[in-house]
Order: sequence, then C-alpha cells, then structure tokens
Amino acid sequence: MTPLATTALPPGEAVGPLLRGMAVLRELARGDGRAAVGDLVRATGLARSTVDRVISTLERVGYLRTDGREAVLAPPLMELGNAYLAASRLPELLGPLADRLADGLDESVSLAVPDRDGVRFVHQATRRRRMSLAFRIGDLLPAERGAPGALFAADWSVPDWQRWRQRRRADPADTGFPALPPGRTDGAATFEARTREAAEAGWSLDDQLIGPGLVALAAPVPDAAGRPVCAVTVVSHTSRHSAASLLGAVLPELRRTVAAMRHTLADPPAPADAGSDRSAVAWSRASKQELGPEFVESLARGLAVLGAFGRAQSALPLTAVAEATGMARATVRRALITLQHLEYLEVDGRLFRPTPRVLELGFAHLSGLTLPQIAEPHLKALVEQVHDSASMAVLDGGDILYVARVPTVRIMTVTITVGTRFPAYATALGRVLLAGLPAVERAEQVARADLTALTPHTVTDPARLAALLEQAVRDRYALVDEELESGLRSIAVPVHDRDGRVVAAVNVSMHASRRTARQAREDLLPPMREAAARIENDLHIAARYTAPPVA
Ligand code: PHB
Repeated sequence: MTPLATTALPPGEAVGPLLRGMAVLRELARGDGRAAVGDLVRATGLARSTVDRVISTLERVGYLRTDGREAVLAPPLMELGNAYLAASRLPELLGPLADRLADGLDESVSLAVPDRDGVRFVHQATRRRRMSLAFRIGDLLPAERGAPGALFAADWSVPDWQRWRQRRRADPADTGFPALPPGRTDGAATFEARTREAAEAGWSLDDQLIGPGLVALAAPVPDAAGRPVCAVTVVSHTSRHSAASLLGAVLPELRRTVAAMRHTLADPPAPADAGSDRSAVAWSRASKQELGPEFVESLARGLAVLGAFGRAQSALPLTAVAEATGMARATVRRALITLQHLEYLEVDGRLFRPTPRVLELGFAHLSGLTLPQIAEPHLKALVEQVHDSASMAVLDGGDILYVARVPTVRIMTVTITVGTRFPAYATALGRVLLAGLPAVERAEQVARADLTALTPHTVTDPARLAALLEQAVRDRYALVDEELESGLRSIAVPVHDRDGRVVAAVNVSMHASRRTARQAREDLLPPMREAAARIENDLHIAARYTAPPVA
C-alpha cells in the first residue's frame, strides 16, 4: 500500500473549497458538534465570508444546521463515516461474529482498526454489567492506551514510532482523544515492551490502561498477507476478572472467533448492489442556481465523491467513481487527490478507499443522538410553520409515551411534557402507533385495552376502534377529535425505521376551534409528512451501523 500523503502543503491540483469545507467540518467535530461561526473563523484561520459560504453549502447538503449564530452537526453527516464503514465491510462481515462472541461470553466485544498512531472503533457489541464507559463507533484511542494498539504497533515503521513519540510530547494530556476518561494512566513507559510481547503472543492485554476497573483482551484479525486488518477485543471489569483470569477464560473462544473472521475475510460474499446515484450533478447545479455564491459546488461534489464509496461498498478506481456519481473524470480526479491529501482516502494501485479517519468527522458524537434528539430540530421547524404544538411519542404497552415536545400555547388542562403518558386508543399518536403494529399484535392490543370513555366522544367499541386502526393503516395518518379531552383535536403521522417498521409518531395538536377537521388535514398533513420524512432520512443514515436509542 502506498504510504499516505503526509506533506503539509496540498498538491497544486487540490480543490481549495473542498480543503476549506473539510477544515470547517473537522473543527466542528473536534468539539461537541456545535460552534459559533466566529469561533470557526478563528480556529480555521479562514475568512468570515469563506466560512459563511462553507456553512450554507453544508447546510444545503444536510450535514449541518444553523441555530442562531451557531453551526451544529446534523445526522446526515454520518453518511461520510458510513461510506468508510461500508467500503471496509468490517461491520457487515465481522460484526455478526463479534456479536456472537459477546453473547457466548456475556461480555462486551469491540472491533477496532489502526488509525495512524491510534485505534478507532468500528463496531461495538455492548453487553450486560458494563459499569465503566463504553466507546462509540468512531471513537479514537491512543495506541498505548488499551489492548488493540500494541497489536497494531507491531507493524509500525521507524517514522511511525517517531510520530507516536512526537504526539506524546505535543499532547501530554491526551486532549486529542476526547473519548478517553480524564486523567492519564500512563501506558507509554511499557508500550514498546507490550508491543514486542503482543507480536510474540498473538494477543494483547489491557490491565486498566484506560481507567480503573476496565480490563480487556485483544487479538488481531490478519489479512491474507498477515497484516492486521482489525482487532477483536473482549472487555470486562475487575469485579468479574483480573487481566490474567480474563486471558485464561476467554482466549480459546477469542481465537476461534478470529479464525472464523479470517475465513470470512478471505472469501467475502459480493457486496449487495446498492446502485449508483447520478443525481448529485443535477442537484448541485440546481442548488447553485438557487443559492448563487452561497453554494460552493466543488465542496458538494467532493462530498459526493466520498459518498460513492458508501453505495459501492468497496474500494473504487477513478472511472468507477465518475460512473457512480455522474461527474466528469477531471472533477473526480481532483476531488480524490484532495481527499487523499487530507488522509480521508488512501490509494492502492488504482484503487481508492476511505480511511477510518473519515470517522473523525462527527461520527461518534452523532451516533450518540437519541431518536428524540434527531427529531427535535425537525419538530421545531414544523411548529414554526404551523404555529401549533408538535410532539413525538412511542408506544409503551397500551400507552403512548411522549419522547419529544415543542409546545406553543397551552391548550389542555394537563401539561404535556416528555415522559407524559396517555392511553393509546384515545389519541391520534396512539392510533398511528397501534396501526403500525403487525395485525395480530394490533388485534391483541385492541382486545386487551380497557376502553374507558374519557369524553363523550371517546370510541369505546373494540370493533369500531379496530376499523379506525385499519383506516389509519390505509391513510398513513390518524385524526382524533375530542376523545382524550374536550376541545382537543390532534393529527398524527408515523415515523418508520430503516426496515419500514413504525418506531414513533409525530402529531400536531390544537384547540378544536382553531381549524376544522378538514382544515387540519389539508393544512397540516403536508408539512407533517415532510417533517416525518426528514426525521426518517436522518434516522436511516444514523441507524446504518448504530442503533439510536428511542429515548
Ligand atoms: C472497548 O471496546 O470498550 C475497549 C477496547 C479496548 C480496551 C478497553 C476497552 O483496551
């Protein structure tokens, strides 16, 4: 493999706006995914007008949103990390084996890859009794902290070790590794020795190198040439195992898993054909026409180049990227060179592939967002449009449970907040959620529900309720008038996960005097469906390799 570009100066053919756009994204991702525009100007050294144009372009692409004077990373940015994960195929091919090991041992298991002088997580199978911190996909550890680093360092060249020493001097507090708990447990003194031992033994132990209580055993998964592609780590706690007892208890199982992983990597199934998306060019042109100088086409195109690897699920030559994106070869070539310079792509002969470094672009932070957090900005935008309260709820037994709410004026006698419950049968949110259940489960819920009249309008006849739920399945919405409380009208639409299951519902509620039922349908349904589609788009990108919690 050709060594990564390490020159400080970008090559002459590099695309300036793409370099600057990635600098802004990286700066935003370094913090907590949110920064004032003025701070981005200072931190990147770019002109204010440049940062403004980058931000409006990234906002248009969907990778960030603005909130007052701040720019905030948005879930669609995870598309870039997804592109690396898809092209590496590691979560897809090895994830199920890691999950099986975690189930068998009843301990957490992770997959991590080498990333320069660090270790980056690409899969997590988190199991019971995990008392200490858990790392997220995309989190980076210094190689000397934790079990996998010593396995990867066995492959380091002299310049690699120099880079490691230089980083240790430049950042003695490990501030470049925000996922680490504060306070250094210094593993550096023995790191070189541990690396030699790991190379001989074929495994590596972490005896509380990350923090007190955490012990871990890692083994490398080599490719056909014997180089470690990734490491599998079994993670435990000193309340269950000492480092030594962990080794004795899990090494045989770990070795069997590694053998199965080698086998899978040696003869992988062909990737599922995810098709191409040649709409990027037309979309970019239309955005340019609409936004003028505030839309930087070469930045949008560079990002589309990275995205192409996510659909192809493999390394690609230039021609294939041009083919997949519908862009001119010359444009693609310059984008590839730029991304290679930034170490977001590496090249092996004619094949380009994304590097794990792509995950530094906010992936770990965004993968921590819950479904309500993903929904909230879209609910806010909806409320600004319709001037009535909007909420999101999930089904919990026979109840709906509010998980997000953007209120306007209070119209009910009870205040609804996150955590509020109502009986599902008497609410629009509940009807949509019940309608989303498989038919058998839906019938069971109707049979089980205690259909008490909460107002004179409440539907209490099970057959009638069942018919209304059928109707909601066909209509893909539900409207409920004064069945929960007199004077209250509510309309709700479903939110689907990647597999098409209804995981939540979004409603707008109002006083019945504000709109007739017909006006509610005509005025509210289109913006509500749009909001639900935006939430689903974010959720589907975020959930490709992680599972955003529902609350
Ligand atoms: C983890 O996956 O949480 C992990 C990995 C390696 C360690 C410790 C913990 O050394």
